[in-house]
Parts: sequence; structure tokens; C-alpha cells
Amino acid sequence: MSDGSVLQAVQIEKKYRRGKIPVPAVNGVDFRVERGEVVGIVGPSGSGKTTLLNLIGGLDRPDNGKVIVDGKDLAQFNDDQLADYRLKKIGFIFQFYNLMSSLTAIENVELPMNLAKVPKTEQERRAYELLQTVGLEGRVDHYPDQMSGGEQQRVAVARALANNAPVILGDEPTGDLDSKSAESLMELIKKLCTEKQVTFVLVTHDPIVVAQCNRAYSMRDGRIIHELSKEQLDAAKLSGSYDRTAMNGIYT
Ligand SMILES: Nc1ncnc2c1ncn2[C@@H]1O[C@H](COP(=O)(O)OP(=O)(O)OP(=O)(O)O)[C@@H](O)[C@H]1O
Ligand SMILES: [Mg+2]
Repeated sequence: MSDGSVLQAVQIEKKYRRGKIPVPAVNGVDFRVERGEVVGIVGPSGSGKTTLLNLIGGLDRPDNGKVIVDGKDLAQFNDDQLADYRLKKIGFIFQFYNLMSSLTAIENVELPMNLAKVPKTEQERRAYELLQTVGLEGRVDHYPDQMSGGEQQRVAVARALANNAPVILGDEPTGDLDSKSAESLMELIKKLCTEKQVTFVLVTHDPIVVAQCNRAYSMRDGRIIHELSKEQLDAAKLSGSYDRTAMNGIYT
């Protein structure tokens, strides 16, 4: 890709089937994300946000259209190559962290490197370095249930970065966090974008997240209906600071 985009969706479509009835979940989405950007996706329940993330993340394949990540068209990948893509090019963070409860923080971060067959000493070195980056060098040997939600989500971010993925996808990453932890997670995300040129695409209802996005798109009925204006991003900043639930028409 010559234009510097790390991620491009071209007219992607995905239908599910409910019995014999096709349910259009993503209905012709086009967008482009540059390296180092934080891009938000907002929209009501059922508008296709998670389906879109799954298509970008190679968890599912579109019926039509193209997803191009880091210069590669995902449609060209066979299933093994797609699994490798998910392991090395994409990191995922989820609302409920999805850490392995039987593994310590550092072991959780080592896991994707283990799957990618990175040598053990390199795994340990890099996992420790990543936990330092997310401010958790003091929690290396803690298990998930010994950490706060904010700390667990930071471990999840470190895990998402383990194999140097250029793109991290988040589905409601602050959905289970108090405002203070949500704000500090967003500070970390901004730091990773600036310092390491990592790119984030974050599905969210949270004005604290929207306020920190470089850009945000509003989805409805499987389509991107518009890009939020600067005024709407600024409004998220204001509403997030006093009431996280009040998006005041920012979605529409
Ligand atoms: N596996 C599935 N089978 C059938 N229909 C599905 C499936 N997954 C999602 N859908 C439908 O596709 C549409 C988009 O769903 P999606 O989960 O992408 O929405 P969403 O924007 O993430 O919603 P939410 O904010 O509630 O998480 C909805 O109509 C949903 O019912
Ligand atoms: Mg969803």
C-alpha cells in the first residue's frame, strides 16, 4: 500500500443466516486507517461493530469486498495463513480481558510468543519489557484474580503487543473499567501510538475512549453512516468528564 494506510476495508459485506433468512450484519463498509492512529467505532447494539472487527481481525471472512492489512489482502490467505495473520499481525483486547486465569501476568504475555515459536529466553525478556511498558513490572508474577480490572486490561494490551502486531482491535475495552482506569488505559494506548506507531481500532460506547480517538466512525445497520466531527469528538471529552453514559447524540 503506497498511501501509508495500515488497514483498509473496501466495500466489505457480511450476512449471517437465521434459519433461511439472511441477516445483513455488515453492509458495504469502506474505511482506511493510517499507522499510529486510534480510530473509534460507535453505534447502537446490532449495528455490526463486532462483525466488522471480526472481519478485520481475520476471525471471519467477508462475503464480498476486501480487507487489506499491512499491504496484504486477507482473501489471499488460506486458513493456516489466516491463523498466522491473527497471531502475528493483529492483537485483540476485549471487554472482560480474557486472560488465562491459571497463568501469571508474564505467562499470559508469553503465550502468543509461545504459539509463534519464539525462543523461551526471548519470550521472557520481551514479556518483561512489555509489562514494563504498560507499567506492571511490579505485577509480573500475579495471577489475573490478584489484579484490578485496569491492571488486567494492561496485561491484555501487553499480550496483544507480544508478537509486534501493527494493529490492535478492541471491543469495548473500557466496558468493565471505572473512569480512572479507563482514562489511564487510554493514556497508555495514546503512548503506544505515538512511541511505537501501533494502530488501534476500538469499538466503544465510552466517551472517555471517543475523546482520545484521532477519528471515529458511526455505524448503523451495517454501514458507516458518518465520521464524527471535531465538535463531536470534543463533546465526548466534555461529557466523558462528567457522565460517561451521556453521549448526547454523539452516535448519530
Ligand atoms: N453468529 C451470528 N448469527 C446470526 N446473526 C448474527 C450473528 N452475529 C451477529 N448477528 C447479527 O448481526 C448483526 C450485527 O451484530 P454485531 O454483533 O456485529 O453487532 P454490534 O454492533 O457488535 O452490537 P453490540 O453493540 O450489541 O455488541 C445483528 O443483527 C446480530 O443479531
Ligand atoms: Mg458487539
